[in-house]
Amino acid sequence: MGAGIAQVAAQAGDEVLLHDTEQRFIDRGLATIERNLARSVEKGRMTEEQRGGVLAHIDARPKWEEFDVDVAIEAATENVGIKLDLFRKMEEHTPPTAILASNTSSISITRLGAVTSRPELVIGMHYFNPVPVMKLVEVIRGLATSDATFEAVRALAIRHGKTPVGANDFPGFISNRILCPMLNEAVYTLYEGVGTIESIDAVMKLGMNHPMGPFELADFVGLDTLLAIMEVLYDGYGDPKYRPCPLLRNYVAAGWVGRKAGRGFYDYRDGAPKAAPAPNGAKQHAKA
Ligand code: 3HC
Repeated sequence: MGAGIAQVAAQAGDEVLLHDTEQRFIDRGLATIERNLARSVEKGRMTEEQRGGVLAHIDARPKWEEFDVDVAIEAATENVGIKLDLFRKMEEHTPPTAILASNTSSISITRLGAVTSRPELVIGMHYFNPVPVMKLVEVIRGLATSDATFEAVRALAIRHGKTPVGANDFPGFISNRILCPMLNEAVYTLYEGVGTIESIDAVMKLGMNHPMGPFELADFVGLDTLLAIMEVLYDGYGDPKYRPCPLLRNYVAAGWVGRKAGRGFYDYRDGAPKAAPAPNGAKQHAKA
């Protein structure tokens, strides 16, 4: 998602410093941005010159150094230890007035702010996948986030061509508190043999007009991310209604974590995605 965020910021004319832990991840991000921009040129939405202009706004910085920025947005993996460490580093390497934002999908903004000495400048800036397409940015206030920080980030999201929506800092915020239990319930529906991957996806696409079925979307988001969010909801609310489905745990344990692994509820290894008829461990009803 970091590449998508860098792309929308650069398209808005912001100067972007793109950092990652390894050069190959930066290269992969830049390749994605180049592919998206080339498609925009092909479709006549952007000139060749504008494409070059966007790329010129992105400066790759593979090493930790002094990042002279107004806003730093992290989009690391959903692991609280990694994020806490990152916030300590972001504080150390940015000016004391810089806003420190997280694209986290569920981790407490208050907790991230508490490891810095500027929690009033720490905020959630939650984009949605694919970032260049999806219109929403969920803006999450931690307990200590100031109104000035909230307003600055709201304005930044609008500059990025997005619609900001405010949320308070409770597990899953608004978006994933609603989305992830729905995806998890789809996995239970498969696990209990009520339907197949394809029938459950068809019901949600044709009956509810969702652009992707829950299994397509879960594979797109990443089953490891979905499980991590369910754990945050389960732990944060202490309510059994958020318990992750054991079949979801099995997929993550197998490393079948979705599109990025070539395999999740669908198999992407031979081009067109194929659904497994009934994974091991799911009940099968004769007439389902
Ligand atoms: N990057 C950039 N652009 C992309 C893209 C990508 N990965 N995927 C699709 N697009 C663009 C295409 O270029 C195309 O643009 P154009 O019409 O201007 O040429 C447009 O999106 C439509 O793409 P397609 O025609 O190929 O395919 P679809 O019409 O099926 O749309 C989709 C693809 C936009 C991904 C659509 O299926 C969709 O909206 N799916 C649901 C996505 C969703 O729910 N996202 C939220 C996930 S939850 C999340 O991110 C939060 C996290 O915390 C868990």
